[in-house]
Amino acid sequence: MARLSASILTSDDLFRARLSEMLRMGSVRVSVIDDRLARASAGSDVAIVDGRRDPAEAMTTIERLRAASPTSAIFAVAAEASPDLILQSMRAGANEFFVWPLQEPAFNEAIGRAASRVQSTPGTRAQAYVLMFLGAKGGVGTTTLAVNCAVDLRRHSGRSTVIVDLKPGIGEVGLFLGVRSRYSLLDALDNVPRLDAEFLRELVAKHKSGVDILSGSDQFDRPGVNDGPAVEEVIRLLSAQYDFVIIDAGTQLTAFNTAPLYAADAICLVANPDVASIRNSQRVLERIRQLGPSPDRIRLLLNRAAEPYPIPPAQIEAALGHPIHQHFPSDYRTVAMAINSGVPLTLAGNSDMAVQLERLTRAFLPSATEPDTSGAPRRSSSVLGFDRLASLW
Ligand SMILES: Nc1ncnc2c1ncn2[C@@H]1O[C@H](COP(=O)(O)OP(=O)(O)OP(=O)(O)O)[C@@H](O)[C@H]1O
Ligand SMILES: [Mg+2]
Repeated sequence: MARLSASILTSDDLFRARLSEMLRMGSVRVSVIDDRLARASAGSDVAIVDGRRDPAEAMTTIERLRAASPTSAIFAVAAEASPDLILQSMRAGANEFFVWPLQEPAFNEAIGRAASRVQSTPGTRAQAYVLMFLGAKGGVGTTTLAVNCAVDLRRHSGRSTVIVDLKPGIGEVGLFLGVRSRYSLLDALDNVPRLDAEFLRELVAKHKSGVDILSGSDQFDRPGVNDGPAVEEVIRLLSAQYDFVIIDAGTQLTAFNTAPLYAADAICLVANPDVASIRNSQRVLERIRQLGPSPDRIRLLLNRAAEPYPIPPAQIEAALGHPIHQHFPSDYRTVAMAINSGVPLTLAGNSDMAVQLERLTRAFLPSATEPDTSGAPRRSSSVLGFDRLASLW
């Protein structure tokens, strides 16, 4: 199913919050664009217009949106279902009409219709495969797995790949790859209104494997709670530019880094086989369930897993109510050498760790893993076979 972008046009924060929640909890993945960010609703797949207080103004907004974007789905929301208003909104260009409060089944069906339309539109813009790495707690190996996965995906697919360091404070993604960046994620977050493909190209640093890096912040309090909408927009823009977007989200699930949860095709939850890690994993899994993304997108990765296990894997799975997707050995020497030299594990020899990383990344690749040597323009998602891949999980 296509991933949608949606803008909510209202001056009522409660309306915005309720709509955002409904969009997040549905089965279609939706990036919610904050219309207070200047570039906002331009070109979003779905625009939801609040016409409860001022229907006449809402009709003008719908007409403007329709003129600007003939293909987006426009939903009008009104205080009452007057036949006159329904007719007016359809004439202005709305595709759907709802009465407040919204009925979830009807709303979700309309979102499903919008997603099917986007998917079947010829020349639909490409969508990246988005992978989020989230640590159950600090130091479990989230960055190690994220950077190596990014390098391996690029190596095996030949596709454009970017890794984003979303950890607040001083992120280590650039360091692990031995790359010093001039710009950071904060430059992207602070310039969302003028971010475009060219600007993004300026902000990323290049690793010799071909992976682009949007380096981490160097401020301890950023990204912070106020950066949520900008983070969501940056991920959406990167998804339109790259084939793979890998996100090192650190360990927190706060307002600014829940955005990748909604965009991610797979959420890799990294844990160690110890009590603290497993207890935190329980909480993180519960929090993800509350926030909406379906648990079948979560891949539990057990890092530094070596016999004898402090807690047996079967017991971990029972405690979490979630299967372990993959184990990674404990091999401090190999991992530390790779980090210290800035050479990714998979490029630094045939360790067991490298073998497991390769296994992980192959599962995220389309079934045909031949490199993309065609030089052809970027593909639609179905050409890469991501839809089929998703259905395998
Ligand atoms: N499989 C492994 N075997 C041995 N050591 C490992 C393994 N994976 C990671 N490490 C080591 O664990 C330490 C932490 O790794 P890393 O920085 O990737 O964790 P993190 O979860 O991203 O930490 P942070 O919470 O600080 O962001 C590093 O010293 C790394 O070398
Ligand atoms: Mg880290």
